[in-house]
Amino acid sequence: MVEATRLFDSFGRIHDNLRISVTDRCNIRCFYCMPETDAPFVARGEILSFEEIERFVRIAARLGITKLRVTGGEPLVRKDLPVLIRMLRSIEGICDIALTTNGVLLAPQAEELYEAGLRRINVHLDTLDRQRFVKITRRDELDKVLEGIEVCRRMGYSPIKINAVAVKNLVEPDIVPLARFGRDHNIEVRYIEFMPLDARGLWRRDKVLLADDIIRMLTEGIGPLVEVPGRDPSAPALEYRFADGIGRIGFIASVSRPFCLNCNRIRLTADGKLRYCLFAIDETDIKTLLRSGAPDEEIARSIRSTVADKWEGHEINSSRFVAPPRPMYSIGG
Ligand code: 5AD
Ligand code: SF4
Repeated sequence: MVEATRLFDSFGRIHDNLRISVTDRCNIRCFYCMPETDAPFVARGEILSFEEIERFVRIAARLGITKLRVTGGEPLVRKDLPVLIRMLRSIEGICDIALTTNGVLLAPQAEELYEAGLRRINVHLDTLDRQRFVKITRRDELDKVLEGIEVCRRMGYSPIKINAVAVKNLVEPDIVPLARFGRDHNIEVRYIEFMPLDARGLWRRDKVLLADDIIRMLTEGIGPLVEVPGRDPSAPALEYRFADGIGRIGFIASVSRPFCLNCNRIRLTADGKLRYCLFAIDETDIKTLLRSGAPDEEIARSIRSTVADKWEGHEINSSRFVAPPRPMYSIGG
């Protein structure tokens, strides 16, 4: 890769990581992401086709994007996802593809996805308690999620990680059981601080269960945690392991310890908008370029200028903070 072609922003951060949302639809309704009813979805014709996504990724790969994560909404509700995984895998320069899913459709699709070359998977799961699962997601699908995780384990997916959203006065009883589940099954559990990206403006600072509180709960409930040294500085998670050597824990502490300084990500939404930050207000309309016959160079220029415009970081902790107009399900996390 020629240095000059790489995606530098004005703070010197190099971007090599692209998150691709393949749909804004979802088969459950987590309250911190989607409204319970009448979620507005993008019309099908506005969703990028696999060919359009592939072309965009090919151009982005020439600019130094090497890592992809496929997200949603729920990516497994998009038909024929393994076909897209295969297409993306064969793009020169792409060396890593991961998937973030809620796990509901994982059991029936795990084998085909594995055959397509997928190995890394993050399953969104906040609780092992059926009632709380229903309360959070407004759907009764816990058994399917657990089955999906088990099928992936048996097939040899690695690593499998669990993403749990940490909401105060709600998931405290789940923190220790989830970590125990992770220890028993060799799965890293990552607690994600609740972020202001829900569809109804419910977020408040005092509804965030902070990483430090979770560390205290895990230490009391299971045993001491030690920080894992030498982690990738651009990885968002703070990594810990239990001192007894069994089990890893991660924290995505966007609120209490923002990691913007090392951010290396850009995001493509299902309707073809490029975003330089989860919380960005501005976005670049890639879909119109793709559909108006723009040459590769023009799309590459557009990617470069989006990255060049990137701000220093989100301002969740400042009074200036303005939540983005898109909730989580329409960005993809
Ligand atoms: N705050 C923090 N994390 C969230 N997720 C969804 N909504 C929120 C929110 N408001 C997480 C889910 C999903 C990932 C993409 O983002 O765990 O797995
Ligand atoms: Fe669906 Fe994920 Fe949003 Fe939950 S957090 S509603 S699983 S897109």
